[in-house]
Amino acid sequence: MTLLVTGGAGFIGANFVLDWLAQSPEPVVNLDKLTYAGNPETLASLQGDARHQLVQGDIGDVDLVRQLLAEHRPRAVVNFAAESHVDRSIHGPGDFIHTNIVGTFNLLESVRGYWSALPQADQQAFRFLHVSTDEVYGSLGHADPAFTENHRYEPNSPYSASKAASDHLVRAWHHTYGLPVVTTNCSNNYGPYHFPEKLIPLMIVNALAGKPLPVYGDGMQIRDWLYVKDHCSAIRRVLEAGRLGETYNVGGWNEKPNIDIVKTICQLLDEMRPKADGSSYASQISYVTDRPGHDRRYAIDARKLEAELGWKPAETFETGIRKTVQWYLAHPEWVSNVQSGAYREWVQKQYSAS
Ligand code: NAD
Ligand code: DAU
Repeated sequence: MTLLVTGGAGFIGANFVLDWLAQSPEPVVNLDKLTYAGNPETLASLQGDARHQLVQGDIGDVDLVRQLLAEHRPRAVVNFAAESHVDRSIHGPGDFIHTNIVGTFNLLESVRGYWSALPQADQQAFRFLHVSTDEVYGSLGHADPAFTENHRYEPNSPYSASKAASDHLVRAWHHTYGLPVVTTNCSNNYGPYHFPEKLIPLMIVNALAGKPLPVYGDGMQIRDWLYVKDHCSAIRRVLEAGRLGETYNVGGWNEKPNIDIVKTICQLLDEMRPKADGSSYASQISYVTDRPGHDRRYAIDARKLEAELGWKPAETFETGIRKTVQWYLAHPEWVSNVQSGAYREWVQKQYSAS
């Protein structure tokens, strides 16, 4: 028994692989292109562990994926691989179309070829789990109910449109070819090993470096936050018992305006790493030009996952954000290693005009 995980050197994928191997003897083959967002250092604790093999490669490389499937004969594929950053998708959508749409198509075709040649019992047991996002549902008004799985798709950014397209391909490969798929649509994750281009790690890292904390627009956009380990436990549960062809929303019922998130981080840093001059990190908050087409509010209704599969998050936002800030304070070397030349170029491009 083996899992093929794609994108397992990124933020959520690596947390998933680390958690999986902490709980299961089942090996993981980890296919990752190692883009700017993929970081083998996150997986350093698995060095020498025969259950983990990291393969650098593209989900769209049909020959490579077919070879990996033939060699390792996985009983499931868990597809995390994607371009994931909304702001980058606005500056350059091409990579998002290439990986999230064409890459997913190629991966589905490779997997379909492998799956259709399996003995019947193995075919029935096989799973393709596609990891997706709440952003495919678009933006909610202030009083709207949270997204259920039946909410229509209304993606607004190049990123969310590319993820929506990939979800549709996965659905169609089930409906047309019978591929045994399940899809998860999760809200915003946070936690260890989060690349500091995203809101929470960027604010922690900038605060500690004495840099401005760039809040887009009025800071009143709402996101629904889930600690990454809870997303991983949801994926494990859906892999184990999710109904074929179904989608499951994953979320922690933690809606917060961005400015509240930033102020909470400042308060925690004031407590855990007070500034020498006694001022609060909140004095570094700086309102900057808004993201084009910025979705106002996301909120996930995760009742289906709870009712059908008994999943619930273990962390509240208060416990999860405290653990996260503590993790970044304890791992300055991980942060400085990801702040490569490519990272500095991105920060310059994104924030220089504000
Ligand atoms: P990430 O950007 O941190 O990691 C993505 C990983 O995929 C990287 O390791 C990268 O090297 C790899 N990758 C990119 N293109 C590839 C390709 N063509 N072939 C193989 N590997 C490739 O992203 P993340 O935040 O860990 O998100 C993982 C998945 O979860 C994505 O599909 C994303 O859409 C989804 N998701 C993310 C969140 C979130 O809050 N971060 C929430 C819901 C869903
Ligand atoms: O909802 C799930 C999605 O969450 C995932 O599918 C995406 O992969 C993931 O990147 C995330 O998307 P967001 O756009 O919500 O995350 P981000 O961390 O980029 O931004 C969170 C909010 O904070 C958003 O409203 C924009 C705002 N923001 C972000 C940055 C980077 C700022 O105000 N300032 C910033 O510098």
